[in-house]
Amino acid sequence: MTHTPIEISEFAQRRQALLAKMPENSVALIPAAKEVTRSRDTEFLFCQDKDFYYLSGFHEPDGLLVLVKGEENESILFCRNKDPLQEVWHGRRVGSEKAQQDFKMDVAYELDELEQVLPMYINGKTTLLFAQGAYDEFDKLVFACLEVLRNGYKQGFRAPQTIIDIRDMIAEMRLIKSPAEINIMRKANIITGNAHSRAMKRSAQGIFEYQLEADILHEFAFNGARAPAYGTIVGGGENATILHYTENNEVLMDEELVLIDAGAELDGYAADITRTFPVNGKFSDLHARLYNIVLDAQLAAIETIKPGSNFAIANEAANRVITQGLLNEGILEGDLEQLIEDKACKEYFIHGLGHWLGLDVHDVGDYQMDEFKNQLRAFEPGMVMTIEPGLYFDANAPVEEDLQGVGIRIEDNILVTETGYENLSVNVPKTVADIEALMAQA
Ligand code: GLY
Ligand code: MN
Ligand code: MN
Repeated sequence: MTHTPIEISEFAQRRQALLAKMPENSVALIPAAKEVTRSRDTEFLFCQDKDFYYLSGFHEPDGLLVLVKGEENESILFCRNKDPLQEVWHGRRVGSEKAQQDFKMDVAYELDELEQVLPMYINGKTTLLFAQGAYDEFDKLVFACLEVLRNGYKQGFRAPQTIIDIRDMIAEMRLIKSPAEINIMRKANIITGNAHSRAMKRSAQGIFEYQLEADILHEFAFNGARAPAYGTIVGGGENATILHYTENNEVLMDEELVLIDAGAELDGYAADITRTFPVNGKFSDLHARLYNIVLDAQLAAIETIKPGSNFAIANEAANRVITQGLLNEGILEGDLEQLIEDKACKEYFIHGLGHWLGLDVHDVGDYQMDEFKNQLRAFEPGMVMTIEPGLYFDANAPVEEDLQGVGIRIEDNILVTETGYENLSVNVPKTVADIEALMAQA
């Protein structure tokens, strides 16, 4: 599958679309992320602010995008200064001149000019839009600019009277993926599926969880995804019952299940796939029965996905299958309909069914939750979500001993299409038979 990055013109179109939604005579400020210190003078791998990236395509830290809606609309980028010494030590910088051309900005400045220039773009605007509280340092900069304008009242400066949080506006745009975004997410899923298959084939008792993590990361990197979209989870046995387990430092044991939740990040877009499989390649009868409850619940939920449906409907389908399965196993007792109404399965299916997926793994976008926590947002073509039911029995769960310490989750990434859905997570085995067959090839 070919991999086509997003065209610069698409980033420019997104800015125009946001400008069209902004109030008259307003200015929006969207800052880049800063590098984060790991220890002393070393930094974590840089991750760009996703809203900034969505609207600019610009990869460097410390910049600022300014969108002005006035008589004419303008896109202005502030970016790091060209600096030969810094560039020898820390890497190349695009510089304002090239940034203006290559990223289709109307104007670009070096960051040195920010304090002086920024107040002038805010001056006289009625409304200021930014994500107040997202970055402390940026909040201070914005309030300093407002102070400059208020103090310059006699010179005719005017500060905006209204401040609006811009995040919801951008979130609504990010929720619906373009064809180019969908292509990247398809590819991120293919890479991630291959990584899960590799881990299945290389699983063996006696190896460390982090060694399977290394297999996952190896496959990501050798297929064009340098880094994971989130901390890779490899949980053997009871560790699988810890939802965001990332220590990955224990030894995998015979006759245990191992849960891997891992997703590649490609061009900033996340995949988020989970598979659970037997360390030794063969499911026990009990593990297979529980696994099939989760699998049937996942398939039932996925089948509900189409335009106009919603997470509440998908949840209802998954909860019904899981509740029936737990009744069959004698783990729950009582009347099926009553247990469903009471959401009794939530004692063991302890998280939500899924979430939006995109530039962030838990992507932005309103779920339109009602007072009963039902997520009623109607699905629309172009939305991408995860569907990830699970069952978790920790060491203290009130179940038979051989069930304690078992965690199972199965997670796929689903695109809403015009007529239904497309499962993007298609190239990694999911049934008991297919998983065992792949692992037998190892
Ligand atoms: N990987 C985190 C999640 O599945 O939500
Ligand atoms: Mn997920
Ligand atoms: Mn996940």
